[in-house]
Amino acid sequence: MSSLGETLKGTSISSDAVKSLAIEKLKRILGDKGFTDDGNEMTPFLTEWRGFYSGDALLIVFPENVQMVSSIIKICAEADISIVPQGGNTSMCGGAVPSSDGNSIVLSMSKMNNILSIDTTNYTMTVEAGCILKNIQEAAEAEDRYFPLSLAAEGSCMIGGNLATNAGGTNVLRYGNARELVLGLEVVLPDGRILDQLTGLRKDNTGYDLKQLFLGSEGTLGIITKAVLKLFPTPKSINAAYCAVPSISAALELLESARVESGDSVETFELISRQVLDLVLKHIPDTRDPLNAPFEYYVLLEIVSTKHNDDQAKQNFENMLEKALESEVILDAAIAQTEQQRQEFWALRENATESQKLEGASIKHDVSVPISSIPKFYDAAWKAILKVEPEARLVAFGHAGDGNLHFNVAEPENSPSSDFLAKWTDINHAVHEVVKDFNGSISAEHGIGQLKREELPHYKSQTAIDVMRIIKSALDPKGIMNPGKVI
Ligand code: FAD
Ligand code: MLT
Ligand code: ZN
Repeated sequence: MSSLGETLKGTSISSDAVKSLAIEKLKRILGDKGFTDDGNEMTPFLTEWRGFYSGDALLIVFPENVQMVSSIIKICAEADISIVPQGGNTSMCGGAVPSSDGNSIVLSMSKMNNILSIDTTNYTMTVEAGCILKNIQEAAEAEDRYFPLSLAAEGSCMIGGNLATNAGGTNVLRYGNARELVLGLEVVLPDGRILDQLTGLRKDNTGYDLKQLFLGSEGTLGIITKAVLKLFPTPKSINAAYCAVPSISAALELLESARVESGDSVETFELISRQVLDLVLKHIPDTRDPLNAPFEYYVLLEIVSTKHNDDQAKQNFENMLEKALESEVILDAAIAQTEQQRQEFWALRENATESQKLEGASIKHDVSVPISSIPKFYDAAWKAILKVEPEARLVAFGHAGDGNLHFNVAEPENSPSSDFLAKWTDINHAVHEVVKDFNGSISAEHGIGQLKREELPHYKSQTAIDVMRIIKSALDPKGIMNPGKVI
C-alpha cells in the first residue's frame, strides 16, 4: 500500500484535500459493500440508544478482518481523521457515537463476527470482536460449556463492546466482570500496528499485562479485533426465587446466608424496588407480579450447581429460604418450579431499563459502593435527590450482590420533561457527592463515554488522571481514537 505522503509528495495541499483523498482510498480498499456514506443508512450508527447523543461522520466502515482494520487506521492516522469504534451501539453513555464535528469515521465491527475456535479442554473460546454476545453464549452451550457474561442488551451488544466497556451484568458475583473473562486479546493500535496477545494461557508473567490496558478503555486506546474468552462448566441445576424483603439491610442478610448455605454458589443477586416492578408491569405485556401482595423491595436470587438434578442443592436452597422467612429476612418468596417461571422472573428484572424508557425521561446513575454501605447510601442518595427535585421518582435496581445499583431517577408525573432534564447536572451532582462520601464509583459498569467525562476529574485523583493521560498520549499521540470520550 503506498502512503498518502508518497501520493502527495512535492505538492502543497490543504488538509481538506488530504481528507478527501484518504476517504477515496478507504472506499477503494473497502469495496462497495465495506462502507456507507448514505445519510439514511448512516443515521443508526450516529445516534445513541437513548437518543441523547448524536453526531456526524465522514463514513461508516465495515472491515472484514484485522488487516483491513490496520489499513484503515493507518490511512486515518496519516490524514488526521478520527476513528470511533462501534459494536452493538448499546452504550449508555454516548461512547460509541461520534461528535458533531464530522471529522470521524465510525468503524463498525459487525462484519467481524466469526467464532474462530472452542477448546473444551482448555475451557476457552476464540472470537472476533463483532460477535453478538448471545451468539457466543449459544456457541458455548452447544459444546456443553458456559460463557457467563449476561446483560439485558445481550441480543445486540458485541463482545468487543463488552470488553471495551468492561461490562458487568447479572453474573458478576460468581464470575467477575468482562475483564476477568478474558485470557488474550488482539488489538489494532492507533498507528495501525497489530498487537497480538491472543493467548489462551491462564498463567503468564512475562512483563506487563498489556491486555488490561484495552479492557475498559472504551475505544480510546485501540481497536479490539479478537479475544480468547474463558469458559466454565455449564450450570445444570438452577434454583431461582423472587423474594420480597422488608429492607435493603435484610436483602444483604439474605445475600450472606445464600452465599454461605450454598457453598458460595450464588450466581445472581439482583435488587428490584417496587417502583421498578410497577413500571415493568405497566409497560411490558405478559408480565405479572409473582407474589400476592405488594412489597417495597424484591431480590431475584439464583443459586446454581453444575450437577444434573442436584436434589441436595435444591433442598439447601429451600431450607435457606425457609429459615429466612422464619427470621423475617424475607417476607414472602416465589420459587420457580419450571424454566418458564424462571424466565418470567427474569422478565421483571431485564425489562427495568426498557420500561423506564417507555415511562419518559430519566437520569441514570450507575454507581457502586462497598456492599456493606448500600443501605446507608440508598437513604442518603435518595434524600439528596429529593432536595433537588421533590417530585422525582426513584427507579432503583440492579446488581446489589456486587455493590452496584442503578440509582435511576424518573421524571415527575404531570410536569414537562424539559423542567426535569434541566436539573440533570444538579441531580447527578447530588448523587455523586453521596457516592464519594461512601468511597464509591460514579461508573460501576457503563463507563464514562461522553456522559461522565466532565464529572470524572471531580471523582478521580489528579494523579490517576495524569497517569491516564500519559498512557493515552503514549499510545495515541494524535488523539484520533474515539476523541471526546473518557478523558
Ligand atoms: P458499543 O455501545 O458499540 O460501544 C461501547 C464502547 O466501546 C464505545 O466507547 C465504543 O467506542 C467502544 N468499542 C466498541 N467496540 C469496540 C472494539 N471492538 N474495540 C475498541 N472499542 C470498542 N452494561 C453493563 O455493563 N451491564 C449491564 O447489565 C447492562 N445492561 C444494559 C441493558 C440495556 C437494555 C442496555 C441498552 C445496555 C446495557 N448495558 C449494560 C450497557 C451496554 O450494553 C454495555 O456497555 C455493552 O458492553 C456495550 O456493548 P456494545 O457492543 O453495544 O458497545
Ligand atoms: C441493567 O443492569 O439492566 C442496566 O445496566 C441498567 C440501566 O438501565 O441503568
Ligand atoms: Zn447493570
